Amino acid sequence: MEKKKLGVVFGGMSTENEVSVVSAESILNKLDRERYEVFPIYIDKKGNWWKYIEDGQKREFGAEVENKEKIDNLFQYLKGLDVIFPVLHGLYGEDGTIQGLFELLKIPYVGCKVLASSVGMDKVYTKIIFDKAGLIQTPYEYVRKYKDNYIYIDKNFNENILSLNEVAEKISKSLKFPMFVKPSNSGSSVGVKKVESLEELKEAIEYAATFDKKVLVEQGVNGREIECAVLGNEDVIASCVGEIKAADEFYSYDAKYKNEESKTKIPANISEELSNEIRNEAIKAFKSIDGKGLSRVDFFIEDGTNKIYINEINTMPGFTSISMYPKMFEASGLPYKELLTKLIELAIE
Ligand SMILES: Nc1ncnc2c1ncn2[C@@H]1O[C@H](COP(=O)(O)OP(=O)(O)O)[C@@H](O)[C@H]1O
Ligand SMILES: [Mg+2]
Repeated sequence: MEKKKLGVVFGGMSTENEVSVVSAESILNKLDRERYEVFPIYIDKKGNWWKYIEDGQKREFGAEVENKEKIDNLFQYLKGLDVIFPVLHGLYGEDGTIQGLFELLKIPYVGCKVLASSVGMDKVYTKIIFDKAGLIQTPYEYVRKYKDNYIYIDKNFNENILSLNEVAEKISKSLKFPMFVKPSNSGSSVGVKKVESLEELKEAIEYAATFDKKVLVEQGVNGREIECAVLGNEDVIASCVGEIKAADEFYSYDAKYKNEESKTKIPANISEELSNEIRNEAIKAFKSIDGKGLSRVDFFIEDGTNKIYINEINTMPGFTSISMYPKMFEASGLPYKELLTKLIELAIE
């Protein structure tokens, strides 16, 4: 069998560059080298593309990526590949932009295509689609920063320019505290704040708006965080579900990557009925955005009521050796290495 030339693109211009490097490191370690000739490609934070020379060394989280060589003719270099695995999280990697580049170059790539990637990256648009699909979500509102003010956008897309005070007052009347304020385009909890008062709400809106003009405010769900991995193009399967036990007040950036007290439980200790319901909803969510390849779909189970709320869909979930996506499939009988091969086959398909 002739080896396929596989590009593994990682790093990227988003706030999740470091996370991507760690994800890529485990993928590079686990790929089936009998099947694939691997071409690792690093995109630095400024957007320069490099050939990454593998040295088998383990990097500290956040350390500079060295051992790289400039790529002279990028398009030509990419066109020489049979398939690409974009192990990129966040803006310019998970949002449809790089997927558009690969479409133009006619190179198959792992994961969601342009539309699903951009919908999945934009929390507001994800919510609009999930509503349409009848998936249950916590109540939410959203605003867009406009000069020194904010545009409040209602459920019918009517716009109303308001001051920060007015926007916060309005939202505090329609949603209950605690609320979560998020930049619409973000990941790894960057820019996300939990707020308990009107004052905190105002600050959090201003803060989130520094990451993205579009800001989402959600009513908090008091409950457990459950995740489910999906895989497939047409015939989509769902893994067993896993639970996150954040070491912080919520699953913040630090709780995700720095606090070793954050724990996961796979499979989650919940009833089979609840687990099946979540798995079905995960597949529905994936299909509602026209997903392909893979996604991790995140939920809350509300304490007391056991009601399921969908939180978000991640079209390129974390892929470190301890990440939920590969772990949940491993627990469902699909080992990491085979999972990678399956994803690459789905891309070529
Ligand atoms: N509505 C909510 N209710 C309760 N917790 C929430 C809510 N929204 C977000 N969180 C907490 O904040 C974390 C990050 O929010 P999330 O929407 O998943 O953003 P990201 O895309 O950055 O992961 C979640 O994992 C969860 O711990
Ligand atoms: Mg999340």
